[in-house]
Amino acid sequence: MLEVIKRSRLLMMTGLLSVVLAGCSGDTEANVAEETDNEGTEEVEPDAEDTTDEESEGGLDVGIILPTRDEPRWVQDEQRFMDALSDSDYTTEILFSQGSSANELQNVETLVSKGIDILIMSPHDGDAAGAAAQAAADEGITVIAYDRLITSTKAVDYYVTFDSVAVGEAQGQYLVDNAEGSDIPLYLYAGASSDNNAFLFFEGAWSVLQPKIEDGTFVIANSSEAEALSGTAELTRDEMGSIMGQITTNWDPNEAINRAQTHLTSAGDDLKGDVAILAPNDGTARSIADTFSADSDITSYVITGQDAEMASIQYIIDGKQSMTVFKDVRRLVEDAMGMAITILDGDTPETTGSYDNGAKDVEAMQSEVIVVNQDNVKAELIDSGYYEASEFTGLD
Ligand code: GAL
Repeated sequence: MLEVIKRSRLLMMTGLLSVVLAGCSGDTEANVAEETDNEGTEEVEPDAEDTTDEESEGGLDVGIILPTRDEPRWVQDEQRFMDALSDSDYTTEILFSQGSSANELQNVETLVSKGIDILIMSPHDGDAAGAAAQAAADEGITVIAYDRLITSTKAVDYYVTFDSVAVGEAQGQYLVDNAEGSDIPLYLYAGASSDNNAFLFFEGAWSVLQPKIEDGTFVIANSSEAEALSGTAELTRDEMGSIMGQITTNWDPNEAINRAQTHLTSAGDDLKGDVAILAPNDGTARSIADTFSADSDITSYVITGQDAEMASIQYIIDGKQSMTVFKDVRRLVEDAMGMAITILDGDTPETTGSYDNGAKDVEAMQSEVIVVNQDNVKAELIDSGYYEASEFTGLD
């Protein structure tokens, strides 16, 4: 997947900071029009003074499309973009696709009609987003994939993301580090197969868990496909797809509840008691945790997560979720806007590697991730200014 070429991030960061500072003129109050067209649009109208190229005069500079407003994760990104752009000279618009590739394409058409030069897009469905990206590329617009890769198309120029394989590795490692004894029932859950990240998360988790399944530490409790492949250290995409087909949550907390209930109903006593649960993100982790804690034959569970959503941080403080993988969205927004500004200034953005999206090697900027559990919630999320302590109860 990622061909790692270590280039100096620092260089890029200093470049970004000076551009933003340069861009801040006049205190502009983000004039946010809460009207909805194309499913959830927010317009940020900065001060009219424009210091960049004439061409974008009156038109939007940057269009931003996020998958859905129904998940706290993406509402976080919207807020972080708003924070980052609140006193910028660049005009941007944030649109949500509400889980529909048709909406996504319509959103792109709307932004194209408003004259954008840059499209930053986190696709609902990586492959289906190819049409939307092509519609932008046909107008000479630079397309930056955000967090999720746009796949099977040449119409994507850059990609900013977190190390998604490392997310899965961290989740798998957490279950291994907290495993006591052997034959521990292991319940596997995955994200949506339309999301390239879901494969990267699972690849990372499997690379750590598979040897521990093979040595008898864990027993797979809810997937015959995974059991059949338990001797395979490196799964092909199709093999991963066959497993994920049995355990996908489609990133939907309700679907996660239904799957968990079905698995617990069909599980025998030998698959109850003290269990380990691979949950792909926080939204699904909370609903799976609630479902397992409602089963009186489950005496304890260790469960993973991702995204450091506020509700899951409270679950972690309360001991109802074991960990989450923190992806500092401020960093991703900085990288995405840094690239956009560099391109608007006519320069070539720095990258740290590339991703093969099935049609080309997409130049990418990748950020690290941080494991958070009860021990370091305060250090990683409060002291870093990501959240206010007042948002939580029971925080020491
Ligand atoms: C992934 C993203 C995760 C997660 C999920 C659900 O692509 O990387 O952070 O939240 O989508 O929307």
